[in-house]
Amino acid sequence: MSPALPGPTMAGPATPGPDTARLSRLLPPAGHHYADDLAAHLGRHGPVPYRGGVGRLIPEVRAAGLTGRGGAAFPTYRKLEAVAAAGPGRAVAVGNAAEGEPASHKDETLLRLAPHLVLDGLQLAAEAAGAARAVLYVRRDSRAATRLDRHLTQRLARGLDRIAVEVVPAPPRFLAGEESALASRVSGGAALPRFTPPRVFERGVDGRPTLVQNVETLAHLALIARHGPDWFRAAGTPEEPGTMLCTLRQADGSVTVAEAAIGTPLASLLDLGPGTAVLVGGYHGAWIPAAHAAGIRLTNTMLRPLGASLGAGVLAALPADRCGLAETARVARYLALESAGQCGPCLNGLPRIAAALAELAGLAGRRPDPEVIPDLSRWAGLVEGRGACHHPEGTVRFIRSALRVFAAEVRQHQQGRCVARSRVPFLPTPAGPSTDADWS
Ligand SMILES: Cc1cc2nc3c(=O)[nH]c(=O)nc-3n(C[C@H](O)[C@H](O)[C@H](O)COP(=O)(O)O)c2cc1C
Ligand code: SF4
Repeated sequence: MSPALPGPTMAGPATPGPDTARLSRLLPPAGHHYADDLAAHLGRHGPVPYRGGVGRLIPEVRAAGLTGRGGAAFPTYRKLEAVAAAGPGRAVAVGNAAEGEPASHKDETLLRLAPHLVLDGLQLAAEAAGAARAVLYVRRDSRAATRLDRHLTQRLARGLDRIAVEVVPAPPRFLAGEESALASRVSGGAALPRFTPPRVFERGVDGRPTLVQNVETLAHLALIARHGPDWFRAAGTPEEPGTMLCTLRQADGSVTVAEAAIGTPLASLLDLGPGTAVLVGGYHGAWIPAAHAAGIRLTNTMLRPLGASLGAGVLAALPADRCGLAETARVARYLALESAGQCGPCLNGLPRIAAALAELAGLAGRRPDPEVIPDLSRWAGLVEGRGACHHPEGTVRFIRSALRVFAAEVRQHQQGRCVARSRVPFLPTPAGPSTDADWS
């Protein structure tokens, strides 16, 4: 077993911020951008450590305590076991790099800087689950997608991959990475969610048992297979071991992707400065007051009592000059437009909720109706749990957290006032909302 390579890891579209207790397990250490080169990857990590049989890696993944990094933190070994139980040769293994969340860049960054770690993980997960088919589902406008064919050809030439990997493009839509939407798209249909059960591990791509893992989860799995569970657990907390990739959106507008041990103080990742609130877990996540965030660590255990969770690792510090209510209203409008339009409560309810929030936030050009708060809470209750997927619950969680955390702003807005000094949008939404029907 070899230890983690020490050193900071920061990557992203903007300049790295100050380093703290960050690790470089997945991403190359700062200043090294060699990891998309196959020879350098093999030099750093060695060959793919196949186990030579279905299920053999699963006890190690279980002992490591690896959980999914795509948002739900579900124990990875349980999905591997469920799919492996279908018997060898029937299942499909899919690496999920749809990254539909506009605020997240971690999967794109990982695939750009360490693609071979993801591809090793996909092979190893396919072997463990007894899958006969391996697919990488990649956001079609991602910068990482362009080089994948070259990486796969090189791996094939070196005889690294035991099963050929197909690359399936994902539409750049918020829901495209939801696992039943993924299964539909990889089966040749539209990337639309469907009612469950059956879950995709029972009936997924082409009706076959399907293992869907986020690409970051696969990269961790590739390292567990090389270094073992104890090495993995040397970072993180006993309940939530390992590291995770976070997309950090600082109040000054800079955006970076950092790898941090789970349990790292939020204050060492985000400059909380004079900011008012922090968004944790992205657009299906929750706002927490900056004063609370200062004492919080990067763990679901600490976040859940605040109604938040790590999700796929988006952390955003709201600048002091913006209105959290207006930011939430803008994102809620985007989320309402991203409804797949299949389930009545979601199709009708989310736009209503988003319109009421826009009215409250002063974006509708009129003073809010006094009944807007009770209306919002009633409509939120009507959409929750009424859809094929979790989009309504996630959206409602995000909005409720805003009404809680920005209660003072809500009172101001009800009087027709807003304290924001800047109306420049902070949280990203795609330019021009996706009102088209392109789900392929
Ligand atoms: C609305 C919605 C969008 C999702 N988008 C993604 C995504 O873009 N990428 C991803 O890996 N998982 C996404 N998920 C989670 C997947 O359904 C699935 O749980 C995950 O890919 C499983 O991998 P993991 O266990 O390794 O996290 C989404 C879930 C929901 C409800
Ligand atoms: S709940 Fe909403 S987003 Fe999910 S499938 Fe139904 S209509 Fe689409």
